[in-house]
Amino acid sequence: MGYALKETEYRYRAYTKNGVWQVGKLTTDKYISIHEGSNVFHYGQALFEGLKAYKTKAGKIQLFRPDLNFIRINEGLRRLVAPELPEDLFFAAIIEVVKANQDDIPEYGNGQSLYIRPFVIGQGMNLGVKPSDEYLFSVFCAPVGTYFAGGLQALDFVTTDYDRASANGTGQVKVAGNYAASLYPRSIAKSAGYAGVIYLDPLTHSKIDEVGAANFFGITHDNVLVTPQSSSILPSITKRSILYIAEHMLGMKVEERDCFIDNISEFKEGGACGTAAIITPLKSVTHKGKVTQFGDGKVGSTIKKIYDILVGIYYGDIEAPEGWIREIK
Ligand code: PLP
Ligand code: COI
Repeated sequence: MGYALKETEYRYRAYTKNGVWQVGKLTTDKYISIHEGSNVFHYGQALFEGLKAYKTKAGKIQLFRPDLNFIRINEGLRRLVAPELPEDLFFAAIIEVVKANQDDIPEYGNGQSLYIRPFVIGQGMNLGVKPSDEYLFSVFCAPVGTYFAGGLQALDFVTTDYDRASANGTGQVKVAGNYAASLYPRSIAKSAGYAGVIYLDPLTHSKIDEVGAANFFGITHDNVLVTPQSSSILPSITKRSILYIAEHMLGMKVEERDCFIDNISEFKEGGACGTAAIITPLKSVTHKGKVTQFGDGKVGSTIKKIYDILVGIYYGDIEAPEGWIREIK
């Protein structure tokens, strides 16, 4: 089951008819039966999102910035020449799935949450390379703990010569093929004992791009939060939130700019951030055999402060900036 702690009972399915999304419904069927000639099997016309529902101390259920997942899934659909999802369908599916599976939302206080996975696939017989005529949109969910090791713990990462995405390719959207491309470099890093890989920019391999399925950020010795700007990384909602927290809640200077791997020691702390990764501090980065450790190898104090605010907002312990939280009633 990988990252999931258990399977849940209900999922939502909706289909297109003549290229137009139709209202869908909940089902308990975990299996999808589609034509063997479907684009999802051959030409990778598949896209997903990831967001979480959290239970607050008072027992409320809340989503973190789901409006940004909605915008991003439609950016991805445009890139895949698939019909964009209407906002009411996207939210109805998520809300219905969360409510139907609400007994499986982990209780407040144990660091767990309900991971929600919306996805779209191109289906129907289609042998030539062209966009599908028919699509499925589905949402399922599963309770999860932390993606990397348990709790807030600093981990070792290694750079790779492989690319997950090309400079003008599909790195900025959550298309399935990016993740297929990441499996081999990930497996090499895992077998060598690392928590995961650091991708470098595909054109020059001199700048940090991403940390597996998470964005990179570093804290310089004079306490500036820096995160890469690149055409091949996924624009992370967590990263955007961390930039805001650092700048507006902690009064830090923030920069989006190149992070040269040969200058990694400009950072006293390094982190990976994402919905699944939350904030995972980097203990060290190994690049071409050279190990650079951040600070004393423990969780740095600035990352800890940002983490506490972010997680406080997730679980309703800290007041969120305007529009970040959507309660499910
Ligand atoms: N980068 C990649 C490749 C990802 O798959 C994810 C996960 O969604 C992220 C970064 C983090 O993005 P977000 O914070 O929006 O979850
Ligand atoms: C996410 O953080 O939502 C991801 O996409 C990471 C992963 C589970 C693929």
